[in-house]
Amino acid sequence: MKRTNFIIMNIKIQVVFILITVCLFACSSGLQIGETCSANSQCDAGLLCETCAANGNTRSRCVRIQPLNPTSKVKGLAFNNYTWLTTHNSYALNSAKSATGSALITQFNQEDTVTNQLKNGVRGLMLDMYDFENDIWLCHSIDGKCFNFTAFQPAINVLKEIQVFLEANRSEIVTIFIEDYVTSPQGLTKIFNASGLSTYWFPVSRMPKNGGDWPTVDDMVQKNQRLVVFTSKSSKEATEGIAYQWRYVVENQYGDDGMKAGSCPNRAESPPMNTLNISLVLQNYFPTNPNESQSCADNSAPLISMMETCYQADGKRWPNFIAVDFYQRSDGGGAPEAVDEANGHLTCGCDNIAYCKANATFGTCDVPPISPPPPASAGSGTPGSTQSPTSNTAFLGGRPLQLRWLFGAILALLWL
Ligand SMILES: *[C@@H]1O[C@H](CO)[C@@H](O)[C@H](O)[C@H]1NC(C)=O
Ligand SMILES: *[C@@H]1O[C@H](CO)[C@@H](O)[C@H](O)[C@H]1NC(C)=O
Ligand SMILES: *[C@@H]1O[C@H](CO)[C@@H](O)[C@H](O)[C@H]1NC(C)=O
Ligand SMILES: *[C@@H]1O[C@H](CO)[C@@H](O)[C@H](O)[C@H]1NC(C)=O
Ligand SMILES: *[C@@H]1O[C@H](CO)[C@@H](O)[C@H](O)[C@H]1NC(C)=O
Ligand SMILES: *[C@@H]1O[C@H](CO)[C@@H](O)[C@H](O)[C@H]1NC(C)=O
Ligand SMILES: *[C@@H]1O[C@H](CO)[C@@H](O)[C@H](O)[C@H]1NC(C)=O
Repeated sequence: MKRTNFIIMNIKIQVVFILITVCLFACSSGLQIGETCSANSQCDAGLLCETCAANGNTRSRCVRIQPLNPTSKVKGLAFNNYTWLTTHNSYALNSAKSATGSALITQFNQEDTVTNQLKNGVRGLMLDMYDFENDIWLCHSIDGKCFNFTAFQPAINVLKEIQVFLEANRSEIVTIFIEDYVTSPQGLTKIFNASGLSTYWFPVSRMPKNGGDWPTVDDMVQKNQRLVVFTSKSSKEATEGIAYQWRYVVENQYGDDGMKAGSCPNRAESPPMNTLNISLVLQNYFPTNPNESQSCADNSAPLISMMETCYQADGKRWPNFIAVDFYQRSDGGGAPEAVDEANGHLTCGCDNIAYCKANATFGTCDVPPISPPPPASAGSGTPGSTQSPTSNTAFLGGRPLQLRWLFGAILALLWL
């Protein structure tokens, strides 16, 4: 081997070594929200690497999938003083096979298991329950009847996932909204008993009936009444002690009619949005036909804009539940950002719960000098987006500089 070749080889080895060092440095600390990525594993905890082509954003970026845990940030308020991330048809996973063995011919609304949703901070679950196969099943069906091709799995499986979570996380509270097609006597009570969830039952008798505050989250935790359950069947409040949803919750229209910018009508079963003697507010925001590729756009600026519309429609109240399809999809902050904003307004009078100051008076906020997560649709003109592409660059300021410095160092070494 000629001496020059040997030197070049030596330099090459050095370069490879330095590149590995750079990667260890740059790749080990995860990428932040809005930063370009090529795999989920590169993003920081609580983020996934996604594009949002529906917004014209085809560059993969790290986006949020977890809201802040509101009761850790601002402790001890009334239950109705918090907002909870809620998944629509939480069980209808697009990767699911029917437990009957049949192919599923139905709609899909989410992508990960209820266990994973709970891990990511989802605290409201919408479950459709039917009598089926001498049991209660989760089905996404028609005419109030479950079929093999609309049957996901026995409901007890998912109830047990919730039980495991509540058992392991002793200060967390979960709410279940049942779209209830069960007619078998005591059908729901039997599976709640069998799942071990009855232990955590929040009794109807403690739910405020006249627009009053709910008990505090501390009280619910201390009494271990950490499961709030609503049914869509009014008779079950008397027969099984399961709260009839629209006696305690006002709810806007779901589906396409609930996504018309500028209006927030109630769904037919719910009293009007501004019924102030009902203490909880649920905001739906998902289309009639779930659309995974559109959901990243829906779950971003238009969701927050609708939250402001509904705030006006429901007597200046921020939602307690924000229900979406494909909750992990967004162009940046997504549904977790909407939840953090609502929690900021509700818990401390700030625009985001991240700005709440410990023990400060309502409305005293710690707003960081650099603005929070920008939507990733930089400059592509998302309707309703108020963030400019420049705030995006400012947010990302640190890392490109670091990398430039390191690559400079590599070049310098190559010339030695
Ligand atoms: C939430 O708490 C604040 C005080 O921290 C209070 O001013 C506000 O009325 C409460 N809102 C609700 C809905 O309980
Ligand atoms: C539906 O699924 C059950 C198993 O859960 C099976 O026994 C039955 O044959 C299936 N019926 C049809 C029509 O496929
Ligand atoms: C729930 O419990 C698990 C297991 O102990 C823990 O890793 C996780 O951080 C807890 N989550 C919350 C929100 O407390
Ligand atoms: C459910 O459990 C409670 C408490 O253990 C019991 O009193 C009740 O009879 C059970 N109901 C059914 C339908 O299993
Ligand atoms: C709640 O208010 C509505 C009007 O907004 C009224 O019709 C209803 O009777 C009230 N309910 C209770 C329990 O006070
Ligand atoms: C889903 O959304 C995408 C992106 O907005 C759109 O191109 C497509 O037509 C939609 N699909 C359906 C079935 O509506
Ligand atoms: C806020 O108040 C709580 C309860 O009084 C106290 O334990 C905590 O240390 C206070 N936190 C700060 C930052 O002052």
